[in-house]
Amino acid sequence: MADSFDVVVIGGGPAGYPAAIRAAQNKLSVACIDEWKNLDGTLAFGGTCLNAGCIPSKALLESSELLHRAQHEFAAHGIKAPGVSVDVAQMQKRKAGIVKTMTQGILALFKAAGVTPLQGHGKLLPGRKVEFTAADGTRRELTAKSVILASGSTPMELKSAPFDGKRIIDSWGALEIDAVPKKLGVIGGGVIGLELGSVWRRLGAEVVVLEALPDFLAVADQQLAKEALTPFKKQGLDVRLGAKVTSAKVSGDRVDVTYTDGKGEQSLTVDKLVVSIGRRPFTKDLLADGTGVQLDERGFIKVDDDCRTTAEGIWAVGDAVRGPMLAHKGKEEGVSVADRIAGKYAHVNYKTVPSVIYTAPEIAWVGQTEEQVKASGRAYKVGVFPFLASGRARAMEQAQGFTKLIAAQDDDEILGVHVIGPMAGELIAERCWQWSIQPAARICSARFMRIRPCRKPSTKPRWPPTSGRSTPSTSSYFRFGAGWLCTIGA
Ligand code: FAD
Ligand code: NAI
Repeated sequence: MADSFDVVVIGGGPAGYPAAIRAAQNKLSVACIDEWKNLDGTLAFGGTCLNAGCIPSKALLESSELLHRAQHEFAAHGIKAPGVSVDVAQMQKRKAGIVKTMTQGILALFKAAGVTPLQGHGKLLPGRKVEFTAADGTRRELTAKSVILASGSTPMELKSAPFDGKRIIDSWGALEIDAVPKKLGVIGGGVIGLELGSVWRRLGAEVVVLEALPDFLAVADQQLAKEALTPFKKQGLDVRLGAKVTSAKVSGDRVDVTYTDGKGEQSLTVDKLVVSIGRRPFTKDLLADGTGVQLDERGFIKVDDDCRTTAEGIWAVGDAVRGPMLAHKGKEEGVSVADRIAGKYAHVNYKTVPSVIYTAPEIAWVGQTEEQVKASGRAYKVGVFPFLASGRARAMEQAQGFTKLIAAQDDDEILGVHVIGPMAGELIAERCWQWSIQPAARICSARFMRIRPCRKPSTKPRWPPTSGRSTPSTSSYFRFGAGWLCTIGA
């Protein structure tokens, strides 16, 4: 097997494997190294996202939401489904099957594109060399014209609640629970806390979420966060804000947690405790001395806007570098770097990286929150459209939530789009590509025809005529007035 490649990618997650495939499509010789080991000892490409993140979590969210709907929403449709129950083993088997199909699919994609898969550890050496240690311990030194580092991230640990892998677990552990716990504690009310907390709550666990910050979902637009808290509480997610965990001790088959909040010291006993307080870049044993690749003060690999590291010919992408830790952001970076290496034009539009929390209701946004726009000092205007007025959302019995559009007062530039409601992620995806090709809110909203009924027109604002016209005309859609209306879906 050749030991010399045009490109060596270290890390086969959603940032690394698309980079490898694109580089091969660009007619470069490519190897992709990945060391991911599943709990049964098998090696797999796909990284966190496919093996222990996006895909398995979405599989369990879907299954548990079906159960929730059968138990709590079918009756409103006149459907009687008494005695609906859950078989967790089958649910987990389905999830594992999806993960296996997806991760094996990467090998098929590699084969089709001509990427050499190497399963084991990769370490960057000085001079664009990579030491590859296979799973059986054998070593090879590879040479590359370019190296892409895509080593991803790993869960942060809390000193006061160290992982034991059985009772105090990380997000991967929370995806692998084999029986519904009676009581589940979650430290961190962020994306993972809410998604996986929702899964186990819907399956029947009592779920207590301890969030350190005083505000719920501080990262999101606060109008959405407020809207979300009520249904989460109604679903039985016991979210406790301003809760600072001081200790978590495993004793037998339970975990005793102590924390402080505004009222003083509190205690909580749970069967399992998930710690999801964020992730940190993973660069362990990745860089030998003398490579010239620098890390920043938080441990991220330092890169410029085009993902070049501080060493010539070495690039870095995905969770291991600055920016949101999201699979699609990593993929965009990986593909763009593969194009740049091949001498092609590439651009990542960091303004339009969407975020989605796949709970019910779903929460999605792109761009700035109203709080961020306000803090920037730029004059802005806001339009809000409630799903209550969408016939499709009502027909789905999911008419809670709204879409919110923030645009600049002066030139209509879109500054942020926020959606809370059914399939908000799909709505935001559409907004992202509209925004990518047309940054002005008025034109973006006026030039697209959609199917009816659908929920999508709720992100398509129309403005009442403000110049004396009584009938809305095309030109009136181009006007972003103060109290605007939106079209509805039916
Ligand atoms: P990773 O996916 O972490 O992949 C890095 C790979 O590199 C791993 O396979 C690792 O084993 C390998 N590696 C590291 N160092 C070496 C080395 N030295 N040698 C060989 N191999 C190495 N994001 C979304 O956009 N949408 C979601 O719905 C979503 N859901 C998530 C749910 C959960 C529970 C979690 C934990 C995360 C979720 N994410 C989601 C985040 C997403 O998983 C990450 O943003 C994404 O996986 C990052 O991709 P990456 O390729 O940079 O890193
Ligand atoms: P997060 O950053 O989303 O949330 C962490 C939460 O924990 C925050 O609310 C924070 O205030 C809180 N926290 C921090 N320290 C704490 C402490 N000591 N005690 C109590 N609360 C504390 O991180 P999370 O949920 O771990 O997810 C990591 C990353 O994975 C996300 O930021 C996201 O990038 C990615 N992800 C994306 C998903 C998606 O796109 N749907 C799904 C899941 C994860």
